[in-house]
Amino acid sequence: MAAGSASQYDVIILGAGAAGLMCAATAGYRGRRVLVLDHANKPGKKILMSGGGRCNFTNLNSTPANFLSDNPHYCISALKRYTPQDFLELVERHGIEHEEKAPGQLFCKDSARDILNMLLTECEWAGAEVRMKTTVERITETDTGYRLRVGSGDLTCESLVIATGGLSIPTMGATAFGYRVAEQFGLEILPTRAGLVPFTLQPELKEQLAPLSGVSCPVDVQCHDQQFREPMLVTHRGLSGPAMLQISSFWEPGDSLAINLLPACRIKDDLLNLRKTRPQSTIANYLTQHLPKRFALAFNELQGWTGPLQGYKNSDIEQVADVLGRWSIKPAGTEGYRTAEVTLGGVDTRQLSSKTMAVLERPNLYFIGEVVDVTGHLGGHNFQWAWASGVAAGHNA
Ligand code: FDA
Repeated sequence: MAAGSASQYDVIILGAGAAGLMCAATAGYRGRRVLVLDHANKPGKKILMSGGGRCNFTNLNSTPANFLSDNPHYCISALKRYTPQDFLELVERHGIEHEEKAPGQLFCKDSARDILNMLLTECEWAGAEVRMKTTVERITETDTGYRLRVGSGDLTCESLVIATGGLSIPTMGATAFGYRVAEQFGLEILPTRAGLVPFTLQPELKEQLAPLSGVSCPVDVQCHDQQFREPMLVTHRGLSGPAMLQISSFWEPGDSLAINLLPACRIKDDLLNLRKTRPQSTIANYLTQHLPKRFALAFNELQGWTGPLQGYKNSDIEQVADVLGRWSIKPAGTEGYRTAEVTLGGVDTRQLSSKTMAVLERPNLYFIGEVVDVTGHLGGHNFQWAWASGVAAGHNA
């Protein structure tokens, strides 16, 4: 193919998701000839479904402590060089209305489509081409970069950026392609598993909690040395809601969760006090004051707590307080990649430059976004990583 022909690019990016589009615009503005390839029929599908259709596009309080990785320092540099404030400025330049739903968590007021349209507009302004429904059949190395075999012929590039994301939600186009490319070039892949995902329950508990489907209450959940105070939601399949999604990223099969159902209360003191002031009241009465009624009554029944508090000895009250403050459950598992928001693990970052996101021994091959072993907490951190890693690679590819 002659030099300068349509099949030659400076940068080819695989994956038209959050990280890939951000990288494309950044590299395009540097005057690089950029092509983004994606096998799906439409770009940015996960952006569109994110945040309940409103895209929690960043978190103003994002710090490296909000990320899980086998190499925790890796994400620091990119996150520092492209901050939530930087992304917010971009959003505001495009006139996108947004709101802070929980502390630091920024969502679109109208629709997640605003964020996708903004990224596609940026790509257009930067002269980056986005080509969908394109499957890469083979990647080979050349003297000056890479050659990609696609249905319509060969494409060549100096820099190749892998932004194909993780394994969650296969129906939205998720594939293991990025890991296979990493393996092809001799990189290590750390074991992957579903993160930010609802729990499934053992049949007996599932049946007991099933009538509570739809009930949500704020809890404090603990597993290993991690703890989150957020709402828990009972579903017809198990336990979900932000508290459960957050802790799922730290949970391993066989682990128990300790759930404080009344994190804002001093349970033992409250019950002792109640026994003194209103000896005829029941534990169910106490629970209905602090929990949704349906949940309070069902949980009370589950525990078999009957009779007035005056019949409870100090040791009984201690036991009740312990159950309410450390309700221990052992999930059967998680719903897996089918509903997970993210994939934990991935390309081992020890082999990548934290400044450029390029492979240390192969400086024209880049891995960005969710395909690498950097996973954020719930609340806009995962997109912040996609933007920051995309910009870091876009400045160098
Ligand atoms: P992303 O998955 O966005 O893009 C990868 C792209 O690669 C896709 O377009 C895919 O089609 C393409 N691709 C895959 N295999 C390919 C192949 N073989 N060839 C070519 N192309 C290929 N995060 C957050 O911060 N706030 C939020 O509100 C939410 N909400 C949310 C809801 C739900 C339901 C999910 C599933 C996830 C979230 N997330 C989130 C997480 C967030 O969506 C995720 O972390 C980012 O989209 C990751 O960006 P990437 O660009 O790395 O992958």
